[in-house]
Amino acid sequence: MELENSLLKQDTLHLEGKDVEIKSETFEKLMFLYSAALKEVETKINILKDEFKYLYNYTLIDHITTRIKKPESILNKMKKKQLYINYQSLIEEISDIAGIRIICPLKDDIFSVINLIKSYPEFKVLKEKDYITRPKKSGYSSYHLIIDVPVNVAGKMIYVKVEIQVRTMAMDFWASLEHDIKYKTDKKISKKMSKELIECAKLINKMDVQMSNMV
Ligand code: GTP
Ligand code: MG
Repeated sequence: MELENSLLKQDTLHLEGKDVEIKSETFEKLMFLYSAALKEVETKINILKDEFKYLYNYTLIDHITTRIKKPESILNKMKKKQLYINYQSLIEEISDIAGIRIICPLKDDIFSVINLIKSYPEFKVLKEKDYITRPKKSGYSSYHLIIDVPVNVAGKMIYVKVEIQVRTMAMDFWASLEHDIKYKTDKKISKKMSKELIECAKLINKMDVQMSNMV
């Protein structure tokens, strides 16, 4: 595998700003760390979901999805960003290898979830993007966090980055469709289509606000 071969040229892994150095013989070993970190976050979020359901009879979170970025996608992103193809730049520059998406029923729930995540002492927030208050030009709306998650490996604490995206069911519907449209049309969408997508995003936001106000 091309990516693996390129990455294997460097067999010692330094995590920036931390006194941790691990030998990494394989790409799979690194992916294991991301998958372990993702499981840690997924478990915590699932407990949060259950806590609200059983203790307060409130659906704060509708559902959660997780994914580990495919090696081809990692490599494509590194090439697109013109990064050196090695472990160092992968760890430092690619922050969405492990990703979790939290889907909430209502717009207000997003901020509750974000504040709760921020209150976990074990998670370090590295980056925060509020595309709820200020949606992207495309119309995309979501709240993003990049967090550092501690993973215990062979008696050592290693911090691994996880990307968290929090959005409503309606925002998720829009983002999934928009992604599919862009993907199917090979990212060349007409001005008319972009305008229509922005209009749809505005309608969805209007609906989200109205629904949040009702509850
Ligand atoms: P990358 O896009 O991951 O290189 O990083 P970035 O710094 O641009 O981050 P940003 O937080 O803007 O976007 C990260 C992720 O959000 C993407 O990988 C997508 O999953 C999602 N996203 C961002 N913009 C859009 C958009 O316009 N449409 C859709 N469907 N998803 C988007
Ligand atoms: Mg991404």
